[in-house]
Amino acid sequence: AVTTLTIMLVGYLLGSIPFAVLICHFMGIGDPRQLGSGNPGATNVLRTGNRPAALLTLTGDLSKGMLAVSIALWAGLSQFDQALVGISALIGHVWSVFLRFRGGKGVATMIGSCLFLDYRLALAQCTVWLTVIAIRRISSLAAVSMSLLSPLFSWFLAPQLLLPIIIMSSLILATHHQNIRNLLNRRESRL
Ligand code: G3P
Repeated sequence: AVTTLTIMLVGYLLGSIPFAVLICHFMGIGDPRQLGSGNPGATNVLRTGNRPAALLTLTGDLSKGMLAVSIALWAGLSQFDQALVGISALIGHVWSVFLRFRGGKGVATMIGSCLFLDYRLALAQCTVWLTVIAIRRISSLAAVSMSLLSPLFSWFLAPQLLLPIIIMSSLILATHHQNIRNLLNRRESRL
């Protein structure tokens, strides 16, 4: 239990790394929290028109979820505890210790965590995300769809992960509350 808690803390700290803020800062783009939607995430970095920066942000945010879960895996934690570490990384991304407990919306970090929990889950999530993007070009709609469907994917592919996946999905739906309102008012911006 001590090992699990320690690795959850490591996961939280990893998740807290604000890649969007760091990358934009070092690439001279400014602060993504002051631009577009104000969200420190790949989508909003893309709004600056700097594709490499957006891609780096996406890679960073995916990697921290992947790394958190792989550390749990290497430490020999059960798959359920690995998922708790994934949740911790997600919590770190959303309430970052480096951003005064504010942060991003968690989509890439959730997919990154899921990739190492059960790659089929991440594959299904990416398929939904990319399909919605291809059809509607709205990042938040893709994220919301992915979150709503993830428990279903877990039910079929990895039922033992259903509870942690429901927690991750709920958190992502919660971080998208403003986007959901915009979507309902047909005011959400396209990619
Ligand atoms: O991954 C975040 C995305 O779903 C929404 O971002 O900037 O459009 O609020 P944004």
